[in-house]
Amino acid sequence: MRISVKQAIDQLSSNVVAIPTETVYGLAARIDVPDAIEKVFTLKNRPRENPLIVHLYSENDLHHYTDEPVDEELLDYWPGPLTLILKCKNLPEIITAGLPTAAFRVPNHPLTLEIIKMTGPLVAPSANLSGYPSATHYKHVENDFGLNFPVVDGGMCESGLESTIIAKKQGKWRILRLGAISAEELEKKLGYKPEVVKPSSKPECPGQLFKHYSPKAKLVFKGDADAVLGFRDRNYIFPLVSFGASDDPEEIASNLYDALRSLDLLGYKTVLVDINFPRDGLYSTIYERLLKASQE
Ligand code: TXA
Ligand code: MG
Repeated sequence: MRISVKQAIDQLSSNVVAIPTETVYGLAARIDVPDAIEKVFTLKNRPRENPLIVHLYSENDLHHYTDEPVDEELLDYWPGPLTLILKCKNLPEIITAGLPTAAFRVPNHPLTLEIIKMTGPLVAPSANLSGYPSATHYKHVENDFGLNFPVVDGGMCESGLESTIIAKKQGKWRILRLGAISAEELEKKLGYKPEVVKPSSKPECPGQLFKHYSPKAKLVFKGDADAVLGFRDRNYIFPLVSFGASDDPEEIASNLYDALRSLDLLGYKTVLVDINFPRDGLYSTIYERLLKASQE
């Protein structure tokens, strides 16, 4: 159910509301309303060991929650799809999952910034049921949480991929989750290409442990299928669900989750994914999401 910014601000004083960001929709709760934060975990069916991102109005609010200095050149990305992992203070354990660090970002969406300006910082995991593709449109939120669930309609998300999460180790930033800002782009700011940390059995980014982005349809990379998830500029022997033009990674990114969700709406059981595309820049995030989405 679409609600206004004013209604969202009111409801957030005790409850959970879905909000738009430039990456994906978020399921928001105020950091000072523990019952609402609890509800975020319950609604999503999210494991409690998976910490949340704190969404700030501006970088000027960071000093309330961390004593760590942050490189100026990285703050150029804010508001925007870069999440920083920093040693934290003054945050409840339910947000950090008991870690000494927390995740911070300033989202780049005018409606959500208007909300945070009034409510103070919000936690906001992606507004999808845990394991399912993220939501990039208010209808995706309604699909997962019901037609009566309050959502601020901010249109289709501009980027369509989650924020890039980075953390510093021995003086160097490393990528814990690939996202809307590529390693190549970060290299231009940092002067070196940040290493992409491979998830291990005890990952530095707890979320990497869990199932992600998967539609009900089984995704395969070869063999027989009911349909193909691929590019509109290519020909296939199966019916095509397109995620864009093969030479336009921004377009593919913005369509990706909608395309994955539409496989289920169309009732396809087995879908062949065309992964014949480059592996650099945003393509590497898209490839990583498709690999995860295909895991059983
Ligand atoms: O684009 C985004 O980041 C979206 C929008 C709504 O802002 N949010 C989002 O949140 O993707 P979520 O909860 O789906 O993913 C947050 C990720 C999880 O994988 C979590 O494990 C990681 O951030 N994370 C949170 N705190 C962390 C910490 N202290 N150290 C390492 N990873 C952390
Ligand atoms: Mg998520």
